Amino acid sequence: MADDAAACTACGLSEGRTQVVFGDGSPDADVVFVGEAPGAREDEQGVPFVGRSGQLLDRLLAEELGVERADVYIANVVKCRPPDNRDPRPDEIAACRPWLARQLDLVDPTVIITLGNFASRLLLETATGITKLRGADYRYGDPPRHLVPTFHPAAALRGGAGVLADMRSDFGRARDLMAA
Ligand code: URA
Repeated sequence: MADDAAACTACGLSEGRTQVVFGDGSPDADVVFVGEAPGAREDEQGVPFVGRSGQLLDRLLAEELGVERADVYIANVVKCRPPDNRDPRPDEIAACRPWLARQLDLVDPTVIITLGNFASRLLLETATGITKLRGADYRYGDPPRHLVPTFHPAAALRGGAGVLADMRSDFGRARDLMAA
């Protein structure tokens, strides 16, 4: 699937990318993280969440879930870097959505953790923002899997201790669901 995606030209983001940033981690993972879009580092290396947000994500994986990146699966709503790190547009999100749907079907996790507004709104099909959505457990797909929305790590890097504490609590919720 990643090989097919590497040649994708379904939207205009394909024109500016260095490479497609498809996903990383274990195809047998119990938990899948869904972020927003690759940034400059990710576009260079072809791996999601390798910049500052990724370092924070790795830390939370270790401290709250007791796992490493290789134990989980990490993907994004769009697989190609938007120019100047702008937000992905609705047409780009729609064009990329089938890839994410296939990733979630194949990995078939117990819990999906959506990081930030874009992933949470897309998978929950809502316009509600992450601040209201987080703090609860939802269902996604058929068969239904748990979906736990939380802030994007970039928000914790900007927003400080309160956001980080909320993320820790959301990761704890996911950990309990995986153990149940
Ligand atoms: N932010 C994201 O949402 N995804 C990445 O891969 C990196 C930063």
